[in-house]
Amino acid sequence: IGTIVYEDSTSASKAIAQEIADLIRVKQAQKQTCVLGLATGSSPKGLYAELVRLHKEEGLSFSNVVSFNLDEYYPMEPDSVNSYVRFMKEQLFNHIDIIPENCFVPEGRLTKEEIRIYCEQYESKIEAFGGIDLQILGIGGNGHIGFNESGSLQNSKTRLVALDHITRVAASADFSGLEKTPRTAITLGVKKIMEAKRVILMAWGEQKANIIKASVEDEVTNKVPASYLQEHRNATFVLDKAASSKLT
Ligand code: F6R
Repeated sequence: IGTIVYEDSTSASKAIAQEIADLIRVKQAQKQTCVLGLATGSSPKGLYAELVRLHKEEGLSFSNVVSFNLDEYYPMEPDSVNSYVRFMKEQLFNHIDIIPENCFVPEGRLTKEEIRIYCEQYESKIEAFGGIDLQILGIGGNGHIGFNESGSLQNSKTRLVALDHITRVAASADFSGLEKTPRTAITLGVKKIMEAKRVILMAWGEQKANIIKASVEDEVTNKVPASYLQEHRNATFVLDKAASSKLT
């Protein structure tokens, strides 16, 4: 596992955007689709802003990009202010030339009975596009990746999960209180994340420093799903100074 430390999240986000732009252009030259795995939350906002800038100012086209988001709350209406569909449109999709039909975010509007087959189909769709070329991740304070909370197995599939209390507390400000915060979500499983050809996990701020140390330097454990990335062939943790401050 590699770690790269930048002075701040802005310069780090620009470097990640550049890697993504390079990959998209290589795939374009080969007339291939570029499959991106995308995250929501506060961590990738600067990255998405830079990708929008690269599109508007430097002519980067996303016409050959297919994207799969990691997760969505359940239940969730796609046009709700808190939906990850809405987040992705506002932060990225509405501002670039990606084909809307190529943007996949887990559906938050299914019946309980539909979820299982839906999750299988989400994974099949990823496989049909040849797998994820580059997966973007944030990390929860408990070490979750996507919504694979503590205890998630390395071969876990895309599924409905119960959110940890700490995850719900972190989200509760957006939902105006813990009671209104969803208790469940649909997440891409750890297995598909581990199958991505390239993984970039980003973390900013000293509130992430302890979990970054645990993920990178302590033993691989299902208590900290991000620690599985130690066993990935091509994963990099991109950090700002504060998030790296507990690393030895
Ligand atoms: C979001 C996701 C989560 C977040 C994580 C960190 O799609 O999968 O794992 O990446 O909770 O969230 P922020 O970036 O808000 O600290």
